[in-house]
Order: sequence, then C-alpha cells, then structure tokens
Amino acid sequence: MSAILPPNALLDVPRTPAGLLSNREKDRLIERAFLGLYRWYTARSQETRNWNADLSFDWKGLRHDLPKEIMTTITGFFAVEQYAPDYTSELVNLVRRSHGRSHFQLRWGSEEEKHADAWENAVLFSRQRSPQWLAEYKERLRAQQWHLPFPDAIHNLVYTVFQERATQLNYLNLMKLANGKSDKVANAVDPVLARVAQTIAVDEAAHYNFFLECTRLYLYYYPARTLEAVKNVIGQFSMPASHLVPDWDEFSTTVYKAGIYGPRDFNRDVMQVAFRNLGIESRKKLEEGIKATREVPDFDGQATVQTAIWDSFDYGSIEGDVKRLHVKIQDYEKGVGFDAVDPFEFVQNPEAPRGVDSDTTNPAEKE
Ligand SMILES: [Fe+2]
Ligand SMILES: [Fe+2]
Repeated sequence: MSAILPPNALLDVPRTPAGLLSNREKDRLIERAFLGLYRWYTARSQETRNWNADLSFDWKGLRHDLPKEIMTTITGFFAVEQYAPDYTSELVNLVRRSHGRSHFQLRWGSEEEKHADAWENAVLFSRQRSPQWLAEYKERLRAQQWHLPFPDAIHNLVYTVFQERATQLNYLNLMKLANGKSDKVANAVDPVLARVAQTIAVDEAAHYNFFLECTRLYLYYYPARTLEAVKNVIGQFSMPASHLVPDWDEFSTTVYKAGIYGPRDFNRDVMQVAFRNLGIESRKKLEEGIKATREVPDFDGQATVQTAIWDSFDYGSIEGDVKRLHVKIQDYEKGVGFDAVDPFEFVQNPEAPRGVDSDTTNPAEKE
C-alpha cells in the first residue's frame, strides 16, 4: 500500500488484475473520502464543540480540597495532553501529502491543545499546586519529546483509534467520580470538574469517530494490511507519553485503583468496542484470519488470499459503514454545492466476494 500518498506520489504501480481497483485508484478514493470527512468534521466541530478552556468553565468554583487521587489523576491528564504540539507536528509531518489527513491533524491539534489548557487550569485552580510547581513540571515534561509509536501512517492511524477511545474512557470515568456516580474515591464530587471531564470526553469521542471512519476506509480497500496493523497495535498498546511522564507509575496505579482506567477497562471498553466497530469478532479470530491469509501463497492464488482475508472480519458491515459515511459526506457537500463541481461517489471494492454476508442485503430477505 502506498499508505496515504496521493496518486501522483506513487513511484511504481503494480500490475492490477482486470476488474480490480489499482492501489492508485484506491488511494484516490480514500483521499477523497478523507477530504470530505475532514470538511464535514470541521463544520460540525465549529458548530457543536466550540468551547474555550478559560471561558467555558467556572474555574473560581472549583473545589480547593479535592482528594489526592483526583489531583494525581488530573495532573497526569494534563501531562499527557500537554504534548499536543509534539503529537500534532509528528502526525502532520507523517501525513503531509494527504490534504484531508494533514488538515484534519491541524484541527485535531487545536482541540488537543484546548484539553491541555483545560487540565492545566484544573490543576492550577485546585490551589493544591503552585504556578511555580506547574512551570517546573512543564519544563520537565517538555525536556522530553514525543515521537510516533510506529513508523508508518496506517499503524499510527490504527493506534489513534484505540488511544482516543481509551482517553475518552478515562475522562468519562473521572466524570462519574466527580458526579458522585462512583464511590471508588471518597469525597470526589465537584460539578466544575465533572463538566470539564465531560466536555473533553465529547471531543475525544469525535476524534475516535474520525479515526475509526478512516480506518474503516482502509479496512474496506486494504483489508490485509489494515488487519495486520490492528493486530500489531493491540499487541503493544500503551497510552501516549507514558514513557515520558516522570511520575507515570503513581498516576497509572491511582487511575487503576480509582476505577478510571486499567487493563480490564482496555480489554472490555476499548479493544472490544473498537473491534465491534471494525467488524472484528475477537483478537483470536483476527490472529487466525491473518495466519490463514499468510499460509496461502500470494502468487497464482489471489482468489484464495482474498477469500481468506475477507472471511476474517465482517466485511458486509464495514461496507455498510463505508457507504453510510459516503452518504453523510454527500449530504454535507450537497448543502455546500460541491456536488455540482466535484461530486463524491462510493466505489465498491470488487475484490470483496459478493454474497449473503453483504450489508446491502435486507436481513428480512436472507431467509
Ligand atoms: Fe485530548
Ligand atoms: Fe483526542
């Protein structure tokens, strides 16, 4: 795969069997969808999530006696989010040839920096950390630089799906504590903190959805390489910057004990949720599918290779998701008038075997 390179950047285009989409065509289709999705996302973000880290919260109303566990948690959240410039610059550089992906990463970065500022305000207005302490802590954090966890665009894309979901879960569970809906930390109720956690969690959900849609596009047009990336990413998943934050062990023990985030939460509420959204039944099924694909020689046996890979996930549901994404983008573009100048169409991947599994079949007609 040419990852996210636009068509004109492809140096060699392999021979494509008649009737199938070339990698060049697939890349063009994916890039066009990224662009539409990015424009849709930006419009929606500005309309529904245009909050401000200083002005949208009653910082003066934040409690000054928050429990130690909550302080450790929000300080850790701040530490992770304040690497936003590193995350953004590395990712923008990685996907710079893709208009949709690179512009999205700038927009995404502008939302992540708001998260860093909001958590910093929470730490500061708790009155339990002095501005001098925060300044020194930031200096320590920024002395380290975050780098991409994987060398290529597809692995980093898939990593971000799991990371955004994990981050959303962390914030939702803190919100539960601050709302008094969890008793794992005594005396944790604070309406201001609950609102901050909820507001940021909504952003993380939007990020998760964007990266999920991108991954589905890859899964639909490049199933083998995408599934391989999913397998590799979950095999070594850790939260971003966990190796850079100096007091990470204390933070991770605290969030675990506070019922905010731990290995069980990752398996149940991150991995299984993302798997379901990607039409993957289980980790075992994913690994078996990849193994079955590898066992078949990929010369003279193309049909068998394709069958093995298309059988290893619910491609019918992914096709349905990709089609729905196209309809969403088409509706948006029609409103603007793009449909008259640059129409956007769904193009089926002819490699996928057509059968009863397809989402296009009405379930009532399957019997
Ligand atoms: Fe964030
Ligand atoms: Fe995010």
